[in-house]
Amino acid sequence: MAKAKTTAFYCKECGNESSKWSGQCPACGAWNSLVEAPKESCSPVRGRLTGVNAPVPVREVNSASEDRTKCGNAELDRVLGGGIVPGSLVLIGGDPGIGKSTLLMQTCGQLSKKDIKILYISGEESLKQIKLRADRLETDCGSVLLLCETDVARIQAAIDDVKPDVVVVDSVQTMYVENVSGAPGSVTQVREAANVFMTIAKGMGITVFLVGHVTREGSIAGPKILEHMVDTVLYFEGERSASYRILRAVKNRFGSTDEIGVFEMTQRGLKEVENPSEYMLTGRPLDVSGSVVFCCMEGTRPVLLEIQALVCRTSFGNARRSSNGVDYNRMNMLLAVLEKKLEVPLFELDAYINITGGMKVAEPAMDLGIAAAVISSLRNTPVHERTVFFGEIGLAGEVRGVSMTAQRLNEAARLGFTRCVMPAVSLEGIEVPKGIECIGIRHVGELVRVLRQQS
Ligand code: TYD
Ligand code: MG
Repeated sequence: MAKAKTTAFYCKECGNESSKWSGQCPACGAWNSLVEAPKESCSPVRGRLTGVNAPVPVREVNSASEDRTKCGNAELDRVLGGGIVPGSLVLIGGDPGIGKSTLLMQTCGQLSKKDIKILYISGEESLKQIKLRADRLETDCGSVLLLCETDVARIQAAIDDVKPDVVVVDSVQTMYVENVSGAPGSVTQVREAANVFMTIAKGMGITVFLVGHVTREGSIAGPKILEHMVDTVLYFEGERSASYRILRAVKNRFGSTDEIGVFEMTQRGLKEVENPSEYMLTGRPLDVSGSVVFCCMEGTRPVLLEIQALVCRTSFGNARRSSNGVDYNRMNMLLAVLEKKLEVPLFELDAYINITGGMKVAEPAMDLGIAAAVISSLRNTPVHERTVFFGEIGLAGEVRGVSMTAQRLNEAARLGFTRCVMPAVSLEGIEVPKGIECIGIRHVGELVRVLRQQS
């Protein structure tokens, strides 16, 4: 007798079930929208919180149980707020191919060395593919348990059976809950699957990592819809073309959201970058005009970055403006302030601004760096290579104070910078680190004077 088929094809758009794959959905006519998914009926186990869902007075709740386990990955530990908390649900979002699976597989390898039982569930890759990736990584992932499955009920059964301490679900958009409408990846399926994993995490005290792809396609639900349900939301960011990656906490019930983790994608997996400033400034050209170092805060971490400006005569009627890593409107505003307050004819000059390394910065403290780079390019005079800038510029050309001055100065001093051009108001009441000279300014006009004296 022929074996009954266990999978069917579902349309991502309308959820229609077909027994055969075809390029166009027979129900709604959408192209290339059919995906394969298991069709066995196993009802999801609900009510795992039974026993703890009766009302309890606050004083009787045991709060001493929040003992964290270090992952062995300093950057991830920092972003998580000091390690993983048992029973927490962590969502890791990011563009496809950014390195989420790599990061989690590496973390699994490091955790398994501490005798922590890990179940890695993949709905995207075969066992062989996962093994191939694990082999490329520097960490030994030998004892991590792998399961290729997309049916949440079967995953539950496996978790009940294995009783792991940590579960990785890669990715939540491939998971499928029986008796719930929609195909895997649809809003209802993603929400329902995350719900089941939440009950598993809370009810059994298992740490669950959910991977969520950030998709720009309307039919696949992105990780955003899960943010309210989970304990911690981490986003993995970075340009595909650049080798660094930033892990950022946007929600954390067990720690601060001000932290970032910096990684470098190498041939052998992700490497922690302990010193982002040094990493970002590697290869900086010295003694060239238009290149300036500025200090921005990434959460509570000061990072030194290089900003470049190129200003040249336009060959068009309207001058061209282009920005990379800097908000376009902010750049235009600063150019207008410089034009008005310094009386330079920027309207007939093209201006290109770029933060090297592919970083994106939105902090106003970078204004002074942009202004210094533009002036340096305009005058074709290099800025002293050991000078760092930070400060916000207002529409009246005033230089306004910024927060966390001491941290910025310490970072600059640590990397051997000897001069800092900064807002005069931020100088009040701070202790200047040894070896660094602080030049406080109040207006962009003073910036021109300072730059002239230095070069
Ligand atoms: P992956 O973790 O599969 O991304 P995601 O799970 O977020 O979709 O990472 C895929 C990319 O990382 C892929 O383009 C190859 C690259 N990569 C390396 O450069 N070095 C490595 O050691 C590994 C494992 C991946
Ligand atoms: Mg992946």
